[in-house]
Amino acid sequence: MEPMPAATKKGRVEPGAPGRVRMESLQNIPVAGESRFSTDIGELDRVLGGGAVAGSVILIGGDPGIGKSTLLLQAIAGLNRRGTALYASGEESQQQIKMRSSRLNVQEDFTVLTDTDLDQLIGAVEEIKPVFLVVDSVQAFYRHELEGVSGSVAQVREVTAELVRLAKEKDIVVFLIGHVTKEGVMAGPRLLEHMVDCVLYLEGDRYHSFRILRGIKNRFGSTNEMGVFIMEKDGLQEVANPSYLFLTGRGEDAPGAVVTASMEGSRPLLVEIQSLVTASNYPSPRRTSAGIDLNRAALIMAVLEKHARISCLGLDTFINVVGGVRLVETGVDLAVAISLASSLKGCALPGGTVVIGEVGLTGEIRPVSRVKQRVAEGVKLGFKKFILPRVNLQDLDCGGTGRKKYSLTGVNNIKEAIDVIF
Ligand code: TYD
Ligand code: MG
Repeated sequence: MEPMPAATKKGRVEPGAPGRVRMESLQNIPVAGESRFSTDIGELDRVLGGGAVAGSVILIGGDPGIGKSTLLLQAIAGLNRRGTALYASGEESQQQIKMRSSRLNVQEDFTVLTDTDLDQLIGAVEEIKPVFLVVDSVQAFYRHELEGVSGSVAQVREVTAELVRLAKEKDIVVFLIGHVTKEGVMAGPRLLEHMVDCVLYLEGDRYHSFRILRGIKNRFGSTNEMGVFIMEKDGLQEVANPSYLFLTGRGEDAPGAVVTASMEGSRPLLVEIQSLVTASNYPSPRRTSAGIDLNRAALIMAVLEKHARISCLGLDTFINVVGGVRLVETGVDLAVAISLASSLKGCALPGGTVVIGEVGLTGEIRPVSRVKQRVAEGVKLGFKKFILPRVNLQDLDCGGTGRKKYSLTGVNNIKEAIDVIF
């Protein structure tokens, strides 16, 4: 790093000598195409925005035991085919890493460092000159001169800053593993997330085998993309057709179950939303939701009550998205509403129905993006009836010739949607 210009007594920074100040007219700055590397894991590449960018720092967070080390050991094996790789672990012994790599059937050879001293790691980087570096985990490494145990705020900040510097200076792709606390934030300062180029979270239920990789921040791509994996005995396997996976094992159409199509980045995802609305034994009824934001669910319940006269007042309501997926897109609102109504009425939807639409506060059904893709995904999986925002009908080629194997029903408001379905 360049030394800072000396400050004068008044604290003012002396103007830099001509030629030393880093200024250039925008038009004169050459276009440098970023070089990207494939990890050979398609789902990971997509979440990264098309592979890992040279000189970037990627932070991967997630609960303990979710599969972070597994994912990165698989990724580094792929990257090793494109350049020298170094896998540094402050968490596991050489034997443990060897056992895992055998389990994952890793054939590639790369250097494994098991230490927790940051300076040893830097020494190894100087020696090996890797293009790819994995650091497992940022909380395990520490700097000798610095006060505080490893994992402390000061240490985590120092380790990250040093690795960011290393990445930029030597054009190394650095993958940093970070631990997540119960509250879902990275242990250590939030600052960590600001220092790196990409933040990805590996999520999923420990007791289910689905794993979802989501981008939270990405300086080199969209954060809407989502990668889907399934944890097998030989590591994380990519799921090319997640809709199929999330819907397998679906039984008969039951009250409270509704299939919707959510856009996850560039890919439509068909999932089932389930609700259970029952009499409450508590003075204040229970409201729980897994996979749908509880505030969003409360809003939808309020709209149902006000505009469709369907009330969950005094009743326990449970909402769940099957497969442990977290849906953040508002295009699934109507499906949540219909699911609640279906459970309350004890009435299942007609077989093969997909419900799509955003619910507005006045009870209107608002249009969703990329409706064509969503419907196509449903059709592909054999669904026959689509309930969607009326305004979206014009986006679909409804005229057509020949008989369609499916029907499209447009709805304007929540009341109309309920009447059409039940
Ligand atoms: P791990 O990658 O160690 O998680 P993290 O680094 O996020 O703490 O994954 C640990 C879990 O994954 C462990 O419970 C065992 C399971 N697992 C498999 O099911 N199959 C495998 O091939 C591997 C390597 C792990
Ligand atoms: Mg680990």
